[in-house]
Amino acid sequence: MLDCGAVSPLPAVRLLQPADVPAAAAVGGASLSDQIPVALQPTTPAERAHLVRRQQARVSHLLATDPEGSWVAEVDGEIVGVALALVRDDIWGLSLFGVRPGLQGQGIGRLLLAAALGYAAGRRGALILSSTDPRAMRSYARAGFAVKPALAAAGAINRARLPAGLRTRAGDVEADRELLDAVSRHVRTAAHGRDLGAFVAAGDRLLVLDGRGFAVSRRGSPILLAAFDDEAATDLLWSCLADGAPGAPVHLDYVTQGNDWAVAVALEAGLSLSPDGPVFVRGETGPFAPYLPSGAYL
Ligand SMILES: CC(C)(COP(=O)(O)OP(=O)(O)OC[C@H]1O[C@@H](n2cnc3c(N)ncnc32)[C@H](O)[C@@H]1OP(=O)(O)O)[C@@H](O)C(=O)NCCC(=O)NCCS
Repeated sequence: MLDCGAVSPLPAVRLLQPADVPAAAAVGGASLSDQIPVALQPTTPAERAHLVRRQQARVSHLLATDPEGSWVAEVDGEIVGVALALVRDDIWGLSLFGVRPGLQGQGIGRLLLAAALGYAAGRRGALILSSTDPRAMRSYARAGFAVKPALAAAGAINRARLPAGLRTRAGDVEADRELLDAVSRHVRTAAHGRDLGAFVAAGDRLLVLDGRGFAVSRRGSPILLAAFDDEAATDLLWSCLADGAPGAPVHLDYVTQGNDWAVAVALEAGLSLSPDGPVFVRGETGPFAPYLPSGAYL
């Protein structure tokens, strides 16, 4: 248990317990809601309920896979902050980090991040997909991470531009395991393992290009994409975009240096580019291309 003197009463940082999942997911969601573009925010009660279920499923999944990387901050018995980290093939990644709006900037995040980073000690490498929050970026840079600037792209695609002859097929997390693990290890030195099953369980679609790569589509947005070569990545990205409903907005996040194939597709599809939060890396994290990492599972 760690204590901090900046907030009164003192926050305590402790490991996440199963009973904390709804509160931890709610704090994580509230802390990040400003970062979600308005066009992508849920609008109906059904969409909001779906988002809450997905946020809780993510927290439960990480509690199951990484109980030692899952931390919360508590004040007066209430959860006010959360930091969830995962380790895959000895690479650490920060999945969720947020403090309740109104309590930010008072030292709670510093304690949480220190606890989550304890789980990174002695690992081969570490990855963080940052928001643009100055407090977050400062914390990661000061923890010894190197920065990779990133772009995002968003909008509704022009379906007339979808190329003919896309070669992807529906994937299967178990049957395609060998390819999936090999591609993830190519781009970031670590397989995604059980995280791919978590996407599928949440309703996302796994797409595979035989021998060359895979992507996860969430209603047309490529929420994870990894390939051995740019041509395969291009096919997979178009396949994700084709998977969305006509006229619905889609987004690509964390397009870093070396992923110009993604910029080319985004522009050809009619999406708009914007600056994104940077990626921070430490140690052996691979070429990071052709790769669009996942905000939840890196
Ligand atoms: C990012 C976040 C989790 C940090 O938690 P926090 O409790 O607000 O942060 P802290 O008060 O511990 O401050 C963290 C660092 O930022 C500094 N800081 C505080 N306010 C700041 C400000 N307005 N501008 C720049 N730096 C600031 C602190 O001094 C501290 O640095 P130090 O440890 O070198 O002194 C929190 O602000 C948050 O929830 N932000 C919105 C969600 C988000 O973007 N999460 C990150 C996802 S990658």
